[in-house]
Amino acid sequence: MAYFADRVVAITGAGAGIGRELAVALARDGALLALSDKSADAVAETGRRCAALGPAPTTTTLDVTDRAAVLDHAAATFDHYGRVEALFNNAGILHVGGVADSPFSDFEHVMDVDFWGVVNGTKAFLPHLMTAERAHVVNMSSAFGLVGMAQHAPYNAAKFAVRGFTDSLRQDMRAAGGRVRVSTVYPGGVLTSIARSAVVAPGIDAAAVARRFEGHVARTSPAAAARTILRGAARGEAKVLVGLDALLVDLVTRFAGSYHERVLDMVFRS
Ligand SMILES: NC(=O)c1ccc[n+]([C@@H]2O[C@H](COP(=O)([O-])OP(=O)(O)OC[C@H]3O[C@@H](n4cnc5c(N)ncnc54)[C@H](O)[C@@H]3O)[C@@H](O)[C@H]2O)c1
Repeated sequence: MAYFADRVVAITGAGAGIGRELAVALARDGALLALSDKSADAVAETGRRCAALGPAPTTTTLDVTDRAAVLDHAAATFDHYGRVEALFNNAGILHVGGVADSPFSDFEHVMDVDFWGVVNGTKAFLPHLMTAERAHVVNMSSAFGLVGMAQHAPYNAAKFAVRGFTDSLRQDMRAAGGRVRVSTVYPGGVLTSIARSAVVAPGIDAAAVARRFEGHVARTSPAAAARTILRGAARGEAKVLVGLDALLVDLVTRFAGSYHERVLDMVFRS
């Protein structure tokens, strides 16, 4: 029997990309799903796909930056199923732009979605997760939560913050008895629409960003990413690296010391 079969699993940002593939794979495995996304149409479509494969999920239109709505969603999920055993804080956006050119509002927007969205989801669901026999929190950082990259300061800042928040939470949960396992996920490039919907600083060519991402950066399919994430989450792995590029970034940042930026620059420029 699949690990998540018959477990209640909430996924944010389930309307596209990795979130949708997590939902579909979990539906196939017989999980009981609480899907949400800020796009009503997108989450409804994911819900339809899941219902064709397994138990019908609940679908909720939810912006993870709306703290009151996230708290309501967590309470409603618990009321509906009587338990919650896993939360995937997956919703996120990409930002491209240098520090000098990116307005403060871009930094705030990316932090609101990519960092505060994770905090909102975690704190809303945690009281429910802590009542389960065994539960999981799975937070999406990024390979850009392992290494700083030019033109990505707002995104880097948010994803490094997710990493610190989640790594600390893991130790809190271990001290609380270890029933809530906590995983930090670091995907490399995954072929989703994230670059097409990226927020870009003035002067950045959004279409060129998407072309480069889809043509050269994104090497892993969202379905393969979902499989890696689910395997890591089921094992309660602290650090889930998705794709060879993420593995490489992890190795180089840990072993090349002060030279890691130059090494990665050479690898990714070729
Ligand atoms: N695709 C990659 O290469 C990659 C790499 C590293 C990390 N990630 C992370 O993985 C996660 C999923 O990314 P993806 O590539 O599947 O993106 P995607 O753009 O394909 O899907 C993201 C989904 O999140 C939803 N969303 C966006 N803002 C939201 C908000 N405020 N509230 C609720 N839902 C919201 C969107 O509507 C969309 O359905 C993100 O956290 C992203 O940062 C992706």
